[in-house]
Amino acid sequence: MTTVTDLSIAYDDGDIDTNRTTNPHLNDLIAVRYSRRQTLFGGISAAATAVFGGALVSACGSDEVDPAPTVSAGSAVTTSAGRLVTLVATVSGTTTNAVWTQVSGPAVTLAVVDKTTVTFTAPAVTASTPLVFRFTAVGTGGAGANSDTTVTVTPAVLGFTAVAKNRDDIVTVPAGYSVTVLYRLGDPMLSGVGTYANDGSDTTFSRRAGDHHDGMTYFGLSATGTAPDPASSTRGLLVMNHENITQVYLHPAGPTTVGGARPEAEALKEMECHGVSVIEVNRATTWSYAPTGALNRRITPLTPMAFSGPAKGATQLKTRYSPDGSAGRGTINNCANGTMPWNTYLTNEENWAGYFRRNTGDAAVRTAAGGAKENTSLTRYGIPEARTGNYGWSTVTPADTSSTIYARWNATANAATAADGTGDFRHEPFQFGWVVEIDPFDAASTPRKRTALGRMNHEGCVIGRTIAGVKPAFYMGDDAQNEYVYKFVSNAAWSAADATASNRLAIGDKYLDAGTLYVAKLNSDGSGQWLPLVFGTGPLTSANTTYPFADQADVLINTRLAADALGATRMDRPEWTAVNPATGEMYLTLTNNSSRTVANTDWANPRAYVDQRNAATNPTVTAATVSGNPNGHVIRLRETGDTSEALSFAWDIYAFGAGADLDPVNINLSGLDATNDFSSPDGLWFGLPSNVTGNATPLMWIQTDDGAYTDVTNCMMLAAIPGVVGDGGVKTITNTIGTTSGTQSTRVGKAPGTALRRFLVGPRECEITGIFSTPDGKSVFVNIQHPGENGTVAAISSSWPASQTGAPASPVRPRSATIVITRTDGGIVGL
Ligand code: FEO
Ligand code: CA
Ligand code: CA
Repeated sequence: MTTVTDLSIAYDDGDIDTNRTTNPHLNDLIAVRYSRRQTLFGGISAAATAVFGGALVSACGSDEVDPAPTVSAGSAVTTSAGRLVTLVATVSGTTTNAVWTQVSGPAVTLAVVDKTTVTFTAPAVTASTPLVFRFTAVGTGGAGANSDTTVTVTPAVLGFTAVAKNRDDIVTVPAGYSVTVLYRLGDPMLSGVGTYANDGSDTTFSRRAGDHHDGMTYFGLSATGTAPDPASSTRGLLVMNHENITQVYLHPAGPTTVGGARPEAEALKEMECHGVSVIEVNRATTWSYAPTGALNRRITPLTPMAFSGPAKGATQLKTRYSPDGSAGRGTINNCANGTMPWNTYLTNEENWAGYFRRNTGDAAVRTAAGGAKENTSLTRYGIPEARTGNYGWSTVTPADTSSTIYARWNATANAATAADGTGDFRHEPFQFGWVVEIDPFDAASTPRKRTALGRMNHEGCVIGRTIAGVKPAFYMGDDAQNEYVYKFVSNAAWSAADATASNRLAIGDKYLDAGTLYVAKLNSDGSGQWLPLVFGTGPLTSANTTYPFADQADVLINTRLAADALGATRMDRPEWTAVNPATGEMYLTLTNNSSRTVANTDWANPRAYVDQRNAATNPTVTAATVSGNPNGHVIRLRETGDTSEALSFAWDIYAFGAGADLDPVNINLSGLDATNDFSSPDGLWFGLPSNVTGNATPLMWIQTDDGAYTDVTNCMMLAAIPGVVGDGGVKTITNTIGTTSGTQSTRVGKAPGTALRRFLVGPRECEITGIFSTPDGKSVFVNIQHPGENGTVAAISSSWPASQTGAPASPVRPRSATIVITRTDGGIVGL
């Protein structure tokens, strides 16, 4: 009997196939064994059976008894969490059985490649942790042998080479990763529409992918294709927002206006390009969407909606369409998402105010009708008089003269109709600015606008960790300059059984209709308070002189006015929130703020400066967009006692955006370099706890929506393994804009260093937004929004996604699209 002396554990560290010895590859070993067994048995088929450990080999005859085989589990290795590990045993002699088992350490699932080889994903750990594995083989004579080996797993580290900043017209990802374009503007997703021509002639977007893909969730789908399966990483529902439109590319020669009015067909198309998509996606060899998926659905600004929660039926929600204030039509400017553990999707109405027309004279009509307060509210929410509304939809004269789907965008009060607003659309703006819950597993369900979560420019709504018996929290940013960050705490404590309930919107009623809405105040000592927006408390009464509140519905409809009254902290444009699934810490992107001045910085919004590079080199960038806080930052907080019910918290700033070339003392406060410098963080998401990326030291993704660094690079996505609140210290900086200077102190987290790295750069003039993964973390879906948004039909400025596989011969109209990113070795994305 001959012993094979080449022993190894091969493992893949995510960069290259790592075999640190000069050993032959497995195939070489097998070949060697073949030749030796051929000598013994005189036949290759018997040898093959022995090597791969099949049934008893008896080719030698019944009178021959083999001794115990000689085995080795290989030498010890060290790897990090999330990496694919391959255990390769060596064995000599004939065997009847051979198996790998785990002896100690955090349990892993061993995937059998063949009798001597298994693979597993290194588990999440917070400190270096040994895992011991045993290879056991039994010889044909019944004698066994075994051998142990140790794999030491260290905490997760990023496992890719940083992508360089670039302005290419393509999605760039690291070596070892691939990009599949999955779902593009105009792609058919319900029956009755054909292939997208992409020349402005297409219609019926209520059956096609909408434009400006944004926040997005993947829900695993059962084998029946009808129910949730949180474990499915090969079949799912992708639910995504279509925030807005790149109007110019939707029509043959751009938008038209005839005699001051928009053509009905153009306006309808533009409306239907907004909203939400629900599409089935499947992974075979590659990912694709199912154009005829049973649960496919398009929700648009025309889809019937129901109001829910304390403001349902309020006077300010009553319209000609909904005289009792309980219903509405559609959702618009849906930005980020929320993923509820009971398998529903939250879509968030962000820049809805811009779509409304309000004629001069409206305020006087409202005042005469007893609605003077509404003028205060409309002004506070950015709807002053004398505005026509985005895209001029209210100018349409429909063929069906009874239709109000265009007139509703004119919020001007009609003095000839009822003072309570039931005869016109003066209250239509109050029907927007809400968090909307959708059940993607019931295509006939009516989405519910959850009024308890307040009305604002809702960017997103993310639920914190759910712990049985504890009331869950929902974190929300109001994205406009100097607006606030909020949390809602349910009245109901979490019950794990709700995660599998079939009446999903009823579970939403339980957690999202009753509770307390809070706004954040951040203090210079690193503490903060959650201030309750509860009618009758503090300034939230009818005695308030700025805005006399009538009841809780009035507080919720006018959330911003209530938060003003409470003295909340004005932030640098709160965008996405994300909760670290291991620590519960909440992260919030503050994208930028051109109105921040040297005089009004604070500890949590500490920078006011001029982006000198842009001012000097990019004549198209105006001073207004490069001063203030042009590059944004990411702030984070930890609830007192680590409970979602806390009324106070500790905070610091995880990272400041900045070009690596900017002043390291006063601007580039996180020490960013060429591998990780970024500007204007927006999308933000942690990996799922169903895989390594959401455990121990979770992986966080940051996406940018930038206008300040775009002279150097297109928008991007970065991966990070962040630390914890308080891991840095206090810094005092000098802010300077023009001739004004002043000092400001702030709390800066530990410099991220190599634990923050650029993973992706998008095509020209896009924003990267929307991210979710499959439960196994091996497929990551990302949205590319508005490539080529500054172009025209005559001068197309991006041909993406057509350009992803090579520059087209002539420019092709760009399309917002979902991509899916996978590793060519099948491992977990990012680690
Ligand atoms: Fe839709 Fe605030 O980004
Ligand atoms: Ca956004
Ligand atoms: Ca944004």
